Amino acid sequence: MHYPLSEKYNTPALMAKIMGPNPLKLEEELLLGHRIPAGATVCDLGSGQGLTSVFLAKEYGFKVYAADLWSDPEENRAFFAEMGLSGEQIVPVKADALDLPFARAFFDAVVSTDSYNYFGRDAAFLDDHLLPFVKPGGLIYITVPGMKRDCHNSLPPELLLSWTPEQLDYLHDADYWADIVNRCKGARVLCVSPMESNEEVWADWLRQENPYAIGDRRSMEAGGGRYLNFIKIVLQKLDS
Ligand SMILES: C[S@@+](CC[C@H](N)C(=O)[O-])C[C@H]1O[C@@H](n2cnc3c(N)ncnc32)[C@H](O)[C@@H]1O
Repeated sequence: MHYPLSEKYNTPALMAKIMGPNPLKLEEELLLGHRIPAGATVCDLGSGQGLTSVFLAKEYGFKVYAADLWSDPEENRAFFAEMGLSGEQIVPVKADALDLPFARAFFDAVVSTDSYNYFGRDAAFLDDHLLPFVKPGGLIYITVPGMKRDCHNSLPPELLLSWTPEQLDYLHDADYWADIVNRCKGARVLCVSPMESNEEVWADWLRQENPYAIGDRRSMEAGGGRYLNFIKIVLQKLDS
């Protein structure tokens, strides 16, 4: 697939900010044909160092709250200013997805890229922790790293070259995710499906010279990528 929006961010300085397989390309595929209006208030949930948040603000015209647990919001604020975005367009927030610091029904939409698998594997997460902050009818777009088929009972040795069984337990197939999100009472599931972006987004990540990317190369160079994919999940909060 082509990534005309993400390609604009393909500079060494910006790519040094990615925290895994190219999240901009994933987001671009995730949002193809999306139904979030420009100007919408959007939570980038698990925004990391804020590159995906910049992308949402600049390329889609959303007002973005960049909510993340591990990153420093002041560093993200400086990055947003460097990227020419004002505090009206983008707001960094230190936040735990399990205890979000927002008013009820605050967001028109939530977008979560390569993060939801850290906090969303409990089927109660949506009803208890996320949907209260989304307006009725609001949309939730998620992309998670996954497995083509769950193989936790017999993990391929290629995958174990880079990751422990505990780390691999964050990765699951589309059936697993469909089961989790279909148990939600407050939203309609619009889509759970494997994505096209896989080899390309991994290649962008493995090219980076940080210890995490270097560590991931062992498995991917041994062919571990054939077991892995990314999964797109789209939900809409019910009206009542
Ligand atoms: C692999 S990084 C992805 C960051 C960003 N979306 C990107 O793709 O560049 C995963 C992010 O999930 C965030 N995260 C993990 N658990 C979280 C939680 N409970 N609440 C909020 N963010 C969380 C981490 O802070 C981290 O920045």
